[in-house]
Amino acid sequence: MSAQTQSARLTIADITKLYADGQRFPMLTAYDYATAKLVDEAGVPIILVGDSLATVFLGYDSEIRITVDQMLHHTAAVVRGTKRAVVVGDLPFLSYATPAEAVENAGRFLREAGAQAVKLEGGVRSARQIEAVVKAGIPIMGHIGWTPQSKHVLGGKVRVQGKSLERARALVADAFAVQEAGAFAVVLELVPDQLARALTERLSIPTIGIGAGPGCSAEVQVITDLLGWSDWHPRHAKPYANLRETILGAVREYAAEVEAGTFPGPEQTSSMDDATLEEVFGRSRLDRADSVDLDQLIPLDRDL
Ligand code: KIV
Repeated sequence: MSAQTQSARLTIADITKLYADGQRFPMLTAYDYATAKLVDEAGVPIILVGDSLATVFLGYDSEIRITVDQMLHHTAAVVRGTKRAVVVGDLPFLSYATPAEAVENAGRFLREAGAQAVKLEGGVRSARQIEAVVKAGIPIMGHIGWTPQSKHVLGGKVRVQGKSLERARALVADAFAVQEAGAFAVVLELVPDQLARALTERLSIPTIGIGAGPGCSAEVQVITDLLGWSDWHPRHAKPYANLRETILGAVREYAAEVEAGTFPGPEQTSSMDDATLEEVFGRSRLDRADSVDLDQLIPLDRDL
């Protein structure tokens, strides 16, 4: 493989090939340039700019609050931070109520933010929108099971979906509706392990699990959960780092050193020729004068 091929951005066809080769793959969320750069460098093939941005990064009380413009702003930053990963932008609440709106807003993610694909929530209820977006030439990922944007319809409380016969049947219908409509992958969020496995065996597109056990074709996690950025994480997440403690420790140490006057130290400080300083303050013609005419020293806007 040439260096050029190695560094080229992956495509949806590459993701489909990973799946066809039986290779499980990770997807991870990112919301900003700096984090996306590291996730990309670590080799994660798909980065999702999820609408979880609203709650975990922007401090809103719900995903429902985020707008298309806010999502585009962050998606563009993630695209700028990445060279290799496929970047998927999440269509936010009410941005795909009709097929026409879905196409218009999905198009903005590609045209304005530079994403390679979009994701939307809903199975049977979103099939027409998925179909329209695919027909417009935009790769799209489905998302079924627990769908945060419709939490008020699902009962408000975050819970595993598809445990009862009726809900399991509905979830199967959702999964096939997403596939038939042309999505290239489907996120299964908070789905019982057995149901996720059964769907993964029967579908011909990759299932990307979150809180759906290890039997899916791929896995997605929210980066702040993965890095241990807050003092809470959902049961399905595993903190691989303790960024909260790392950040707290670093910030406290910095504050203490500033207060004690030990930062900045010699390594962070630059100096100048003492004679020049003396010239400025000690021996200059102006310094010897009784009073300094500032108007002569500093040109004002009006004099320029
Ligand atoms: O917004 C998000 O982060 C998501 C993932 C949980 C799949 O949709």
